Amino acid sequence: MDVIIKESYEEISRYGANILAVEIRNNPDINLGLATGNTWLGVYKELIRIHNEEELDFSKVTTFNLDEYYGIGIDFNKSPKEDQSYARFMHENFFRHVNINQENTHIPDGLVLLENLDDYCEGYENEIKSRGGIDLQILGIGKDGHIGFNEPASSVKSRTRLEILDETTIDTNWEKFYRKAGGKKEDMPYFAITMGIGTILESKRGILMASGEEKAEIIAKALEGPLTAQITASYLPIYHPSLTVLLDEAAASKLERYEHYKHVEELKRKFLK
Ligand code: F6R
Repeated sequence: MDVIIKESYEEISRYGANILAVEIRNNPDINLGLATGNTWLGVYKELIRIHNEEELDFSKVTTFNLDEYYGIGIDFNKSPKEDQSYARFMHENFFRHVNINQENTHIPDGLVLLENLDDYCEGYENEIKSRGGIDLQILGIGKDGHIGFNEPASSVKSRTRLEILDETTIDTNWEKFYRKAGGKKEDMPYFAITMGIGTILESKRGILMASGEEKAEIIAKALEGPLTAQITASYLPIYHPSLTVLLDEAAASKLERYEHYKHVEELKRKFLK
């Protein structure tokens, strides 16, 4: 695990976007695993800039999103604010600004019927496998330590499935997204379809990004242990084969081994790059 700490959110966003841009240029038909939420907005914005100003080409890129709320779907009759689906989030904040082929973008379908759900989730997994697996998976972290929507007590072997959202997640996402859009708390979905921990751990490379003081405590627990199913991000340092963690100073502020990570980063910059 590499832990990279930068002064600000803007810096980690540029750094993250640069990793993605390099990976895409090296492997134009890369399979990317994508996340929604506030954390990655800066990276999407920077990738759009690189696309416009430096000709980063998305035409052969395939994407698989981590998750989608269950019970809602993209609805262009609603304004972007009213439509809280993750499909709309991706459309508004990324896909419509770059030359990605819509057919190569995959987001779990939040409107799939309950009786078809198991088959649907298996199909999502099979689609990932048939394309050769995810080359690079980007991840944010919830206040309860979730990655994707793998809430506390998710198994390390879990696969794409229906998940019941934790109270913390419902409160946080209502405040951050639904409430801002004028929605009532009752509007907030209680379920989501999410890739499993097992699915995420099979990605060839992972980047976990976090910003701000509100993530400092959970980041310290997730990265420095102890490993527990109650904080599903804590599976990453131990079981992910190639993980980069990008933090701003605020999110890194409670790490016990903060000095060590800074030292390693410094040595790498001096001698290995
Ligand atoms: C969303 C996802 C979630 C978020 C997490 C952090 O696709 O996978 O795990 O990454 O809830 O959300 P933000 O970035 O809004 O703090």
